[in-house]
Amino acid sequence: MKKSFYLLDMKKILAIIVLLHFQVFISGQEKQDAPFSEKYRPQYHFSPPKNWINDPNGLVYFDGEYHLFFQYNPFGNVWGHMTWGHAVSNNLVNWTHLPPAIPEENGIMIFSGTVVVDKMNSSGFAGNTGKVPMVAIYTGHQEGINQSQHLAYSLDKGRTWTKYDKNPILNLGKKDFRDPKVFWYEPDKKWVMVVALPLEKKVQFYRSQNLKDWTYMSDFGPAGDTSGIWECPDLFRVPVQHSRKEFKWVLMHSPAPYMQYFVGEFNGNSFKSENPTGEILRPDYGPDYYAAIVYNNLPEGSAPVSIGWINNWNYANEIPVTPWKGAMSIPRTIQVKKTGNSWIMIQAPVASLEKQRSSPVPMEKGVINKSRILEGIGNAWELDMELTVPKTGKTGLRIGEKDKPVCEIYYDSGTRELYIYRGPGNDFHIPAFEKLNHFHVPLSLPDNKLSLHVFFDNSIVEVFSNGGERVMTAQVFPAQNNQAIELFSEGTGARINKLLAWKINSVWQK
Ligand code: FRU
Repeated sequence: MKKSFYLLDMKKILAIIVLLHFQVFISGQEKQDAPFSEKYRPQYHFSPPKNWINDPNGLVYFDGEYHLFFQYNPFGNVWGHMTWGHAVSNNLVNWTHLPPAIPEENGIMIFSGTVVVDKMNSSGFAGNTGKVPMVAIYTGHQEGINQSQHLAYSLDKGRTWTKYDKNPILNLGKKDFRDPKVFWYEPDKKWVMVVALPLEKKVQFYRSQNLKDWTYMSDFGPAGDTSGIWECPDLFRVPVQHSRKEFKWVLMHSPAPYMQYFVGEFNGNSFKSENPTGEILRPDYGPDYYAAIVYNNLPEGSAPVSIGWINNWNYANEIPVTPWKGAMSIPRTIQVKKTGNSWIMIQAPVASLEKQRSSPVPMEKGVINKSRILEGIGNAWELDMELTVPKTGKTGLRIGEKDKPVCEIYYDSGTRELYIYRGPGNDFHIPAFEKLNHFHVPLSLPDNKLSLHVFFDNSIVEVFSNGGERVMTAQVFPAQNNQAIELFSEGTGARINKLLAWKINSVWQK
């Protein structure tokens, strides 16, 4: 299942080919589709009105606003000219799209990074104004020459940004050294940075008092999944589920083109994983979840909230959508729990998404006799269900026709794994996409009960299973509108214990 990783140079070449190809297509398509109801347009997942996006950047809560910065190409819907795009929200669901925040300039692209709220003005960027600076720490990328860490600051709630005149602030003279995440470490009253050495498959930790001068502390890695280059690390403190007092630290990052995490302890200087060596844990076991990071500066007592990019570098530039390209996951709250010898992440869709539900669509419980068709939920919906699965065969949910499924999400009682399968009902025929069809993960079911919380949004399927122990995200590109939705079971005696369904209102409607 693991695919070869990509190199940035490959991205560029692909971008040029695809740009040439799509320029004709874009102008044709824009005339046909009403804005925001284009074919495959997500209705409640974040996507930009137009142009390419990748990684979420600088996730930070400040003064009542959740900021979402992201890798953005202001000039087209393929990767290039990386600039930080910007949107704000007061609930993580309804976003106001703002002008780009930090532009590419003088041959330096603005790669991924972080934003902190510098409450004590430790950086001095606010001078004597009494204001609180927002400080962005990002990678300045000079193609084929250098990647180093840079600063920019804002004194007006992120609306305008000034690049620090003494950039870079951390430069190892390397071509690959990127994606800093910075947070305030209260016990030592210092800033901590975690940043990736992609080719070495390591992350490094640095400390600072003023965000400008950084001192090396330690390395972590290689460990776990080392098959792809390592990008976009994050380190954060996470509550243990059902405990008010206990916390662990999670180190999460993106070994291309997927993600992994470790749970353990951070002592202010270095991180130590407490999971069994060699075990690979992923925040998401589907094909399309990458570069997720968590919010800085959330109100005291909040669990961490992450957002990931829904795409896969193997085909990201070529997905058949326009005039935008790329979307963000539903924001997810994160906790951890211990199962056997392992700490695992428990993720849940952010609660504010429930406000987008329209009235529930009535659904019958009872036995699944081979198959049960679910009617009338359209193309943007949420299903929350619990099934008792039989001892044999596959049991789950099918979107599309039986012999031409768009997507199946099912439990196989034989292998005891949860699957997400993209079938021939998709209208996107490139080998890189068609090869990445089957994704699966072991899942043990208490009392043979499978819970599936499924979100469907035109071209996105996000599945939270068994209370968020395993999550899977996949893009789909259905050949037909209004696909059938069906619960099926190959065994006998499958039961629906709970089945709730909602259409979800579009966030584009004002
Ligand atoms: C991950 C990534 C980052 C980099 C950015 C460039 O998707 O490759 O490592 O900062 O994208 O757009």
